Amino acid sequence: MFILGIESTAHTFGVGVVEGPPLRVLSNARHTYVPPSGGMKPSDVAKHHVEVAPGIVREGLDRAGVSIGEIDAIAIALGPGLGPALRVGATVARALAYRYGKPLVPVNHGIGHIEIGKFTTGAKDPLVVYISGGNTMLVTLRDGRYRVFGETLDMSLGNMMDVFVREAGLSPPYILKGKHMIDICAEDHHRLIDLPYVVKGQDLSYSGLLTASLNALKKHKLSDVCASLREVAFDMLVEATERAISLTGKSDFLVVGGVAASGSLKEKYERMAESRGSKFHLVPQEFAGDNGAMIAMAGFHAYKSGVSIPISESRVRPLWRVDEVDILWKS
Ligand code: FE2
Repeated sequence: MFILGIESTAHTFGVGVVEGPPLRVLSNARHTYVPPSGGMKPSDVAKHHVEVAPGIVREGLDRAGVSIGEIDAIAIALGPGLGPALRVGATVARALAYRYGKPLVPVNHGIGHIEIGKFTTGAKDPLVVYISGGNTMLVTLRDGRYRVFGETLDMSLGNMMDVFVREAGLSPPYILKGKHMIDICAEDHHRLIDLPYVVKGQDLSYSGLLTASLNALKKHKLSDVCASLREVAFDMLVEATERAISLTGKSDFLVVGGVAASGSLKEKYERMAESRGSKFHLVPQEFAGDNGAMIAMAGFHAYKSGVSIPISESRVRPLWRVDEVDILWKS
């Protein structure tokens, strides 16, 4: 069975193909929008996706060595995300489904991150740390749904880091040669400064840390503020993760999402896992950021479990949470 997955929830338009069983990723084509300055305007992101979509669909199929006629179902990320960006992916998916008579499989973007993480690491029933530009969540599968055991109370970790580097005049781009600008900026720091550290149970709050870090730029060296913000933000997340592991009794934890690619966070998690005797799984860098293969992967499991929708019910869902999705499969 071949499943084609389409991702367009935020800055990336991606198309991937998976085959199974046995499951394997055949292709993972994508193109990411980089704003010329400032933040991302949803209408500009949508315009980017419209421009690159035909080429990325073609590349995803060509690299997989599969024709559109051989595809069994089209998986589409219907949310959560930016409405105008989501609508581009949904329109492409509907057009392909209609033109070639293929079933349409709705996929939650967060479930895509989780499924590609489980597939690439082999993690079985882990606590999942889902960290990206839009989300910061600690979840685990229980009674057919991912239950949230901790999350940010205000902004996501990725968004906080992006806003800081932008306001500090370092970005865009936010990522350079695979490294976030905050890591590049922190490289030549000399000292750490005091910044607010807010963990409430398994929940986190990052907005005060952002404000204090921006204020600190008036009297401290930029690299010292970058390093301090990163230390505090990651330590908060590692503490919340450790609390959630303790609460849920899980022996394994899996870190997925765009922020999972940070080397500094990886080191902290390795130390924590060693001290607790937990098993740490990290999604490979190629699959950490948004991509089409992760949507195809979640779509594969959903379609095999009988999930598909008519085109008339494929509206986008910008606020669709991972804990609203029924998980009908074991992966
Ligand atoms: Fe994402």
